[in-house]
Amino acid sequence: MQLIHTKNKLRTFVREARAQGKTIGFVPTMGYLHAGHGSLIQTARKQNDVVVVSVFVNPTQFGPNEDLSAYPRDAERDLALMRTHGADVAFFPNVEEIYPAGFTTYVEVQGPMTATLCGRSRPGHFRGVATVVTKLFHMAAPDRAYFGQKDAQQVAVIQQMTRDLDFDLQIVVCPTLREPDGLAMSSRNVYLSTAERAQAPTISKALFEAEAMIQKGERTVAAVSQHIQKKLQTMPGAAIDYISIVDARTLADLETLHSTVLIAVAVKLGRTRLIDNIRVDVS
Ligand code: PAF
Repeated sequence: MQLIHTKNKLRTFVREARAQGKTIGFVPTMGYLHAGHGSLIQTARKQNDVVVVSVFVNPTQFGPNEDLSAYPRDAERDLALMRTHGADVAFFPNVEEIYPAGFTTYVEVQGPMTATLCGRSRPGHFRGVATVVTKLFHMAAPDRAYFGQKDAQQVAVIQQMTRDLDFDLQIVVCPTLREPDGLAMSSRNVYLSTAERAQAPTISKALFEAEAMIQKGERTVAAVSQHIQKKLQTMPGAAIDYISIVDARTLADLETLHSTVLIAVAVKLGRTRLIDNIRVDVS
């Protein structure tokens, strides 16, 4: 595996691979990798000749009072996990490489898709995501890029941006990986205290119960939403940011449940903000 720090070296690597007729799979990450990232790398490994994984804690997607400086980092562990899963390139740019002095251009997906869910409580977050992903797409020039369903709104925003800006690549969405007790894997789970970690699986349990209600015939958004709220309120000290039941593709609000819906929640447990979601096909 090659360790690359600059966009010029990455471009040279990608150009040479393409000249040999090889396809490129790209897994963008912010590091502190876990098995969920491992499964993205593995899927990319199966579908492409070359796999590039980036690790960049992107400052533009963090708000002023968020956890940018505290965001967990462990480059050695990340490199080991990338090697285990068969990555060919580990791209570790520094902040100046991505945002050189004088940088002023941003990419923004506008409208309800970024104004709802996490966009409401994290203004500017998706602008930062869209900007860095655009830049990384230009640098890695992939055939396929891999994202986790855990970040469902990020996936919707990147899919929209890929269509709107005519990126010639496929977005591959991989399932959320969960701990044995159901908690969605996330780099931020490391922030949880022992007591918070014990409570956290209530979040996925609430989502699975909501899914079961729909499968049994419930079609009212308010009823499903209230059930989730009651369940989440059993966690002492948890602050619910949102419970949203929306169209899975557009993230538009729904009054009754039909086609494919996304049930998404964000909950603050102590100082840790956890998100989770499930997609449910409503027949
Ligand atoms: O999902 C993430 O880790 C980040 O939001 C991403 C896509 C790497 C952009 O910084």
